[in-house]
Amino acid sequence: MNRRDFIKRGVLSGLLFSPVTYVLSSCGGGGGTVITMPPGMGDMPPEPAPSQPVGDKNPLLVPGDEELLGFFSPTGEFTFTTKTIQHQIPGVGGRTTLMVYEVSSGGKTYVNPIVRLRKGDRFKPTLKNELDEETVIHWHGLRVDFNNDGHPYFSVDRGEELRYDFTIIDRSGSFWYHPHPHGRTGYQAYFGLASMMIIEDEDEDSLRNTLELELGKTDIPLIIQDKSFNQDGSLYYQQRLMGFYGDTPVVNLTPNSYLEVSPRIYRFRLLNGSNARLFRLSIKNGSELVPFHLIGVEGGLLSSPIRVTEILLAPGERADILVDFGSFTDGTLLKLYNSRHGITTAMGGGVGDSEFEVMEFRVKGSSTYDRKVPSELSTLSPIPTSGVFTRVINISMFQRRFRIDGKVWDTNNPLKDYGYNINNRTVEVWEFINNTGMYHPMHLHGYQFQVLQRINSPQTIRNLAIDGNGRMATDYGWKDTVIVAPFERVKIAIDFTHNFGYEQIYLFHCHILEHHDLGMMVNFRVRA
Ligand code: C2O
Ligand code: CU
Ligand code: CU
Repeated sequence: MNRRDFIKRGVLSGLLFSPVTYVLSSCGGGGGTVITMPPGMGDMPPEPAPSQPVGDKNPLLVPGDEELLGFFSPTGEFTFTTKTIQHQIPGVGGRTTLMVYEVSSGGKTYVNPIVRLRKGDRFKPTLKNELDEETVIHWHGLRVDFNNDGHPYFSVDRGEELRYDFTIIDRSGSFWYHPHPHGRTGYQAYFGLASMMIIEDEDEDSLRNTLELELGKTDIPLIIQDKSFNQDGSLYYQQRLMGFYGDTPVVNLTPNSYLEVSPRIYRFRLLNGSNARLFRLSIKNGSELVPFHLIGVEGGLLSSPIRVTEILLAPGERADILVDFGSFTDGTLLKLYNSRHGITTAMGGGVGDSEFEVMEFRVKGSSTYDRKVPSELSTLSPIPTSGVFTRVINISMFQRRFRIDGKVWDTNNPLKDYGYNINNRTVEVWEFINNTGMYHPMHLHGYQFQVLQRINSPQTIRNLAIDGNGRMATDYGWKDTVIVAPFERVKIAIDFTHNFGYEQIYLFHCHILEHHDLGMMVNFRVRA
């Protein structure tokens, strides 16, 4: 299992692409126009497409008591030390140098711990940077004030520390933490700096009781990423204009993995922690799609479960799902599968659109489990939007950079005013209009929002739509990241109310980390 094998298999299966010139028909008008990709798009080094892994599968690293991805429930102050370590990733030729968050607490050492907290808890970590470059931690999805949010303005150099202190006000859900320094987020996250945070509350307690779920046993975080390994085990990375796509899918840092499951209901907390790849996920029994329930997204549980057979999951998004293995007999092999989505157009270079197995589930033994998926999970109320201001936000590419309303991040002025100034206690509708051939998962700091409507969606999204507003199941509930497909228009509602007592400066950016590092990011301000 090494990079060369993957490339070789990619060539054999004919999945490589190296197109430079396209005939445009799907790029909005001008059918039949021939364009040549700007340098850096069409002439990118070919992307080795992940293909079916061969050889022995590796047991999935199930978060629990291990050092790596162990569950950590903080009490009081503690320190996240960012450092590099050597780690043997199963199936990879040599040891991999990773950048990680290390925590020592109660006589234990954790590496990239999955942090467990309860709504209302006070969280007081210190970041101690032992990397050779600046960094800062951002708590993706948590509603945290500017001073604690991990804005690049607060980045610290090697040897320096940054203290955080805030109270968890969010509902139960699966959040995550990752770096956010200027221009290096993609690099640092790719090299390992990323993990999950699990927030719990009463809704969570009742779901767990109803389904007899146990974290680390039948309630399992699955952090899905794509990496490329060199033959010596080191990671290969390039900051590409369209985003970096790895040739090896990993789940909880395990390539080519399997998990043994009992014939009962499992909960999986999926996080797309990839730099750029959009997954179209399903569970397959042979060629048959196995239905499952979506029960939560970024901002926590939905009001009720939604039965689906496929979901799209863009970088930054989370999907909390229930899979019932109860009807499968001992020995059944199921796949978590990524299908082609066809969403990136030729104008977007068609990047990152390949088909492969993400991991395998092996049904084992028998079970007397008889719990049923509850019909209610939580109470959510829609943000009232009648008569509110709509802010139209154009996504474009100009001079080889993806832009938000024509703007790009100013690295010399991290607190720059980009003209998004919003009053506290107001609701706005934001309408994204994507004028590019590439999808962009748009993410806001500081708030969870609601998706209202999709217009002019590509076929895959239209097929997954479950209502008259063109929304997919994963558009329901409280969101912090939303996919905006090529030439699509997406409307969201945001309630900008905050109680932090001073003006908040938050980031708004694309979660394709290379787009973001190359400037597809702005500040917005919410007055005191
Ligand atoms: Cu994952 Cu600025 O965020
Ligand atoms: Cu964020
Ligand atoms: Cu983007």
